[in-house]
Amino acid sequence: MNQEFMNTIHNCTIIHGDCLKYFSNKKSAARVDLTFLDPPFNQDKEYNSWNDNLPEDTYWQMMKDVCAGVFEITSDGGAIYFMQREKNVKFVLQCLDKTGWTFQNLIIWKKKTSAVPCSYKFGKQYQVIAFATKGKKSRVFNRLRISPPLPPNYKYERENGLYLTDIWDDIRELTAGYFAGDEAIKKENGERFHKQQSPLALLVRIILSSTKIGDTVLDPFAGTGTTLIAAGQMGRKAIGIEIDSDNTKGIQSRIEEMSQADNVMRFYKEYGYTENLKEIWSVDSMYALTHKKAQPNLSLAL
Ligand SMILES: C[S@@+](CC[C@H](N)C(=O)[O-])C[C@H]1O[C@@H](n2cnc3c(N)ncnc32)[C@H](O)[C@@H]1O
Repeated sequence: MNQEFMNTIHNCTIIHGDCLKYFSNKKSAARVDLTFLDPPFNQDKEYNSWNDNLPEDTYWQMMKDVCAGVFEITSDGGAIYFMQREKNVKFVLQCLDKTGWTFQNLIIWKKKTSAVPCSYKFGKQYQVIAFATKGKKSRVFNRLRISPPLPPNYKYERENGLYLTDIWDDIRELTAGYFAGDEAIKKENGERFHKQQSPLALLVRIILSSTKIGDTVLDPFAGTGTTLIAAGQMGRKAIGIEIDSDNTKGIQSRIEEMSQADNVMRFYKEYGYTENLKEIWSVDSMYALTHKKAQPNLSLAL
């Protein structure tokens, strides 16, 4: 069996299975316009259905296969955002290059959390996200404008914000601690449901930059379904593949429940100076999604 089940709620399709098997069955794989790749980083973390301590060669061969699989089903000019630890940047760029992708940017996501001090080198405070496209030119690239607080030595307020660059230092990583807020999903005992849950703000930014309403967004390592939650609310179709059955169930209930903490509308104002914001962010579809009780429509896929 290729996929153990597939479930579509609103615009979001959740597939329980191995993403490599999804790509190997090209006939049933959907055409996608944007992919967010946030794989396990192979650093011996505890995953239920995944060995996070593979030999380096095996791991990077697998990543290459994933990049190649995504490339085949991506529309011309479509985008991939591949997130990894900064020390692996060389391998990430090689994977993308060898599988046909055209490099566009190396985004530095400077997490707002404090760095863990190291005794023999500088503490690490960022993660890299390689942005690449199928072909030289992006099919969609929306020039977002943001309005971060003025640095202390600036005298005058900006009139209309500034264009987003490749340094993203305004998005807080989700943690279990004081700053976690309600967005980090917790178990009954208070522990985090998934330690690698990405912040919604990150996905909102990626989706807004590289898609238009009606496009299809893929997340082959869906985890808690952050990509689906963001894409679905913003009028995009989303496909998430997840190998772990508990995570898959978690994604399903997250979409069904659509909590206030998952409402992406709280980020809308940040992009208020973007010229075509109304065209690329469908407020209506977000409202419909968060205010209607979702009815899952279960169907089995082989
Ligand atoms: C780093 S986490 C992704 C977290 C996600 N960005 C989020 O916001 O929750 C990687 C996920 O990939 C899943 N996974 C690992 N190997 C997989 C595979 N071959 N196919 C599909 N999912 C896989 C793991 O179970 C894990 O939940």
